[in-house]
Amino acid sequence: MADIRSIPVKQARILRHKILRPNQSPEECIYPGDDDQRTGHFGAFPNDALVGIASIFPEAHPELAESPAWRIRGMATEIEVRGEGMGALLLEACIAHAREQNGSIIWCNARSTVTGFYGKYGFQPVGDEFPLPGIGPHYLMVLYLDQ
Ligand SMILES: CC(C)(COP(=O)(O)OP(=O)(O)OC[C@H]1O[C@@H](n2cnc3c(N)ncnc32)[C@H](O)[C@@H]1OP(=O)(O)O)[C@@H](O)C(=O)NCCC(=O)NCCS
Repeated sequence: MADIRSIPVKQARILRHKILRPNQSPEECIYPGDDDQRTGHFGAFPNDALVGIASIFPEAHPELAESPAWRIRGMATEIEVRGEGMGALLLEACIAHAREQNGSIIWCNARSTVTGFYGKYGFQPVGDEFPLPGIGPHYLMVLYLDQ
């Protein structure tokens, strides 16, 4: 079982670049709100090595009225450890972080390949599939924390 720990954003950006945006510049792995005191950056450590990341930001979605809203970004685990439960632990840490701060909803732009992952934990797709340039097709997915 991996330890899930808060990590400095600089550490998260290394895996964002490696796993999520290998064809983009390191600067494109800097997300708005990264340095916000309320943002949570989490890392999965089965041993001393960081093998998974997820961040959660206080951020409204323009089409979602519920508030306070939180956004998950930069969710990724190293390919060698996928299927070992670390993605789920990282997602749980993000959800707990939003709940602790009285969040009402959590949303993310989920890659279409991983909607099943978010769906397992109660996220629902909203609207149609849409492209994110340079990354691929996505769905807006939402978890309602009040329900
Ligand atoms: C999505 C991702 C973070 C999942 O991480 P993981 O470490 O494999 O997740 P877990 O092992 O904790 O899986 C938890 C559950 O979700 C399921 N799951 C994982 N990936 C899935 C997928 N793509 N589709 C459907 N179900 C999935 C697992 O089978 C597991 O189910 P189980 O508990 O019934 O066995 C990982 O696949 C990843 O980094 N993918 C590439 C980057 C990416 O697309 N990130 C998301 C950006 S929006």
